Amino acid sequence: MVVIDRRNEAAHEERTGAEVRAASESVALAEAWRALGIASESLSQADISGLINTNSNRYAEFIRRGGDLCVDFAKAAVDEEALRALFALARACQFEANREALFCGELVNVSEERAALHMALRAPSDTPSRSPAEASVGDVLDAMRSFTRDVHLGGRRSVAGACFTDVVHIGIGGSSLGPALVVDALAQRDAPMRVHFLDNIDPHGWERLKRGLDPAHTLVLIASKSFRTVETMANARLVQAWLVAALGQDARSHLVAMCGDSKAARTFGVDDHQIFPVADWVGGRFSLWSAIGLSIMLSCGVEIFDALLAGARTMDEHFRAAPVEENLPLLLALLSVWHTVAHGMRATALLPYDQRLALLPAWAQQLEMESLGKRVTQSGAPVRGICGSVVFGMAGTTAQHSIMQFLHQGGNPVLAHFLIVAQPDHDHEAEHRILIANALAQSEALLRGRNAGDVRADMTAKGYDEATIERQLPHRVTPGNRPSITTLVPRLDASTLGQLLCLFEHKVFCEAVLWGVNPFDQWGVELGKLLAAELMPALEGDGLAARTHDAATQGLIAEIRRTWAANPNAC
Ligand code: F6P
Repeated sequence: MVVIDRRNEAAHEERTGAEVRAASESVALAEAWRALGIASESLSQADISGLINTNSNRYAEFIRRGGDLCVDFAKAAVDEEALRALFALARACQFEANREALFCGELVNVSEERAALHMALRAPSDTPSRSPAEASVGDVLDAMRSFTRDVHLGGRRSVAGACFTDVVHIGIGGSSLGPALVVDALAQRDAPMRVHFLDNIDPHGWERLKRGLDPAHTLVLIASKSFRTVETMANARLVQAWLVAALGQDARSHLVAMCGDSKAARTFGVDDHQIFPVADWVGGRFSLWSAIGLSIMLSCGVEIFDALLAGARTMDEHFRAAPVEENLPLLLALLSVWHTVAHGMRATALLPYDQRLALLPAWAQQLEMESLGKRVTQSGAPVRGICGSVVFGMAGTTAQHSIMQFLHQGGNPVLAHFLIVAQPDHDHEAEHRILIANALAQSEALLRGRNAGDVRADMTAKGYDEATIERQLPHRVTPGNRPSITTLVPRLDASTLGQLLCLFEHKVFCEAVLWGVNPFDQWGVELGKLLAAELMPALEGDGLAARTHDAATQGLIAEIRRTWAANPNAC
């Protein structure tokens, strides 16, 4: 990643020196990638079991800790030489300088010319701020806290004088996935309020949701940094109309906005004192710690939200201070790059063995795929390899009855990342042990597999005849030698969840540094938005507008309009 600080007035005079440095850095970078290539050639056919069996210390050597978390990569397809090459790559990519630039608020998001300072949202309150916007972090948090306490204690009531019992959080992408994950993960039996999320612009969702809601007891949060996202604004209008129909114009006291454009929120009909600002330097997928997280506070309480921030701060501190060899987010990024480069793995399965983390894969999917789905570097040159990987997953053990077959015997190599929460928050010890045994069994099965000899012996012992054994054997053989990483969380609470989410955030940043891309923009998403707007007139029957689209799209428009014509009341 090339860091450009446009506020640096001395930059011009330094240019010659910077150019010289850049040239020697690129030599170092080319050398580091070359060394990685050599290490990957010698390890591309790695026998992971062999690596484990020949080093009795492997578990101790291939584990790293940060905060309360620990990452075990003893079952990854990596050895000491590869690790050395990876750490050298991190240095050649100026990992430490880039990390500092991020924390110092430099304009690391080059294509949008802004900083990415989500760490400021969870910094200690006495941290000296670099800008007035950062200084406002404490004010926004205080406003969120006092709003939440007012709602919980009944100081802030509905127009009917009733207490609010339900929250509808309207938002999409980063303005929904993080809060939804945290609310689901930390939901308590005695939660002060129920929170419901409305993201997709498909009124089927709203129609279902509203059946269980009473407008007199419902607070509506519109979460959109831009306050322009089409889906969010369309849903906001639907829900606003529902409030107004039931409560009249006073319904505006039920509307809250978390956004970066207060004027737009006011125009929409939100009262000034119910607008919680989101700063320009908070990227959408890094925004759950900002006012966007108000629904977390309302659902879990002020203390839990504060503990979440404190947990993230613990990981921020680890990330900023830990050296290359000990740095947890960097390690995860290096392992990701390594498995892509050396083992052709272009997909990662995230497998949390804890039902409370069931939404983690969806959140991480947006974080990783929107951030790393890039093909050019910060300077616009093509990326050296293939940046980022497909991220998918679901909670274990459910995943074992779905995607795991693909990992065990499929032809597309996938890196498995297991997450285990050691200590449960219930007293069903026996069931918890089944869960943990399954998590460990999956990584062991990926590693070991089952060879033809074992399959044959097992089938013979079970009394199968030779012809059946011959026929079934190829189907039953499981190749094994498939790598995995396991992250251990001692217990799931607001602090460890904050650490975990922050670990993933910084992992993505590190991976971007290694590939040289900007993880903070998402220009690719824009084209679809543009075309959706252009398609509206064609769908409304403007033939001329339809003809501006390709023939295949025109065909689909005509087909859809035919079904509408057959049932004129539907659309
Ligand atoms: O999908 C693109 C995106 O810009 C995400 O990055 C963002 O989280 C989401 O849309 C929502 O944006 P906003 O908060 O502006 O409504």
